[in-house]
Amino acid sequence: GNEQYEINRFSEFSRNYREENLKATRFWSIFVPIINTLNELGNLLTLVFGAWGVMVSHLTIGELAALLTYVTLLNKPINRFNGLVNIIQSSGVSAKRIFQILDTKVEVKEKENAINLTSIQGNLKFEEMEFAYHNNQSVIRNFNLDIQPGMSVALVGSSGSGKSTVAKIAARFYDPQKGRVLLDGHDLQDISLSSLRFGEADATRTHIGIVPQETLLLYGTVRENIAYGKLDATDQEIEAAAKAANAHDFIMDFPDGYKSIIGEQGVKLSGGQRQRIAIARVLLKNPQIVILDEATSALDSESEQLIQESIKQLFKGRTSLVIAHRLSTIADVDLIVVLEKGEIVETGTHTELIAQGGRYAYLYELQFVKSGN
Ligand SMILES: Nc1ncnc2c1ncn2[C@@H]1O[C@H](COP(=O)(O)OP(=O)(O)OP(=O)(O)O)[C@@H](O)[C@H]1O
Ligand SMILES: [Mg+2]
Repeated sequence: GNEQYEINRFSEFSRNYREENLKATRFWSIFVPIINTLNELGNLLTLVFGAWGVMVSHLTIGELAALLTYVTLLNKPINRFNGLVNIIQSSGVSAKRIFQILDTKVEVKEKENAINLTSIQGNLKFEEMEFAYHNNQSVIRNFNLDIQPGMSVALVGSSGSGKSTVAKIAARFYDPQKGRVLLDGHDLQDISLSSLRFGEADATRTHIGIVPQETLLLYGTVRENIAYGKLDATDQEIEAAAKAANAHDFIMDFPDGYKSIIGEQGVKLSGGQRQRIAIARVLLKNPQIVILDEATSALDSESEQLIQESIKQLFKGRTSLVIAHRLSTIADVDLIVVLEKGEIVETGTHTELIAQGGRYAYLYELQFVKSGN
């Protein structure tokens, strides 16, 4: 699925980079010897003609020495110019890559007269939605769903059925080709992106928070990574969010606490810890609607428990859309929607769907048997 797609993209990217670098190196491997040869040739010619000049006696030894010194002095700037060309060459390659990244197509555009929603009830509605990635075959079809304010809805279905795609469209990372997504009756495309999902200075105006399937942590401190949800948050606010997300304790175990750097040189986080940081991020932003795309990776039962608790905090009093891989997570949501091949095949509560004995009952049975409890 997605993973393979990203891997392919990355190897393509690396291959291009390698080729550009090779090109630069090839040029360079010809250029350097030529410049060096010319340089040495200059010395040699000066020496030969100088010696001849002294012999036919219109040049003194002193003058020849001076001349040789001048030529040698000239070598230095030439060599420096050499180095400069090298730097320009390789930065040219890097700049090209940087511009390609900057040019990466942004999938959604904000309308010029987009509205800033100040406060919302939290009604999220999908109408006849159809979606395809970049003119490929459609991955979501005939998608209709009305999530009332404060309601919790779970989306389940096999891998590749389109669950994450729905989550991304709901947070407007993509626009559907057909149909609409409405927030309190406003088309998402009419709402400014900053009031929709980006952290605004006034966080009460950011309405949708998403915990993605793969949490992206930035190079920086733990604090910065949580504050990403609300850049001007105070230490107290950040700590409160981390506590609600069950992240405070493991953060305090790090040598520098909230100031610990995340990454290669700093502290490394487990999948469960990353997810709790992501939940803290969203809690800090305090949006009216939350979307949780549960990580697929298996968690040990302790962090599973901690995550369940933090998810409860996340859903409290909010409209929520959860994508659950472990069906135990969603036994008490208001509505379960079963997605297969991009289409809704079943909806109902846990009890209803189990009684119905359809797709959900089958998936539930499957997990029940697999986990053996
Ligand atoms: N960025 C993308 N570009 C092109 N195709 C994509 C992209 N992301 C997902 N797809 C494809 O869209 C379909 C639905 O993918 P999606 O990620 O929504 O599934 P999912 O239900 O979330 O699966 P999982 O349970 O494994 O997370 C898959 O066929 C997938 O290969
Ligand atoms: Mg997914």
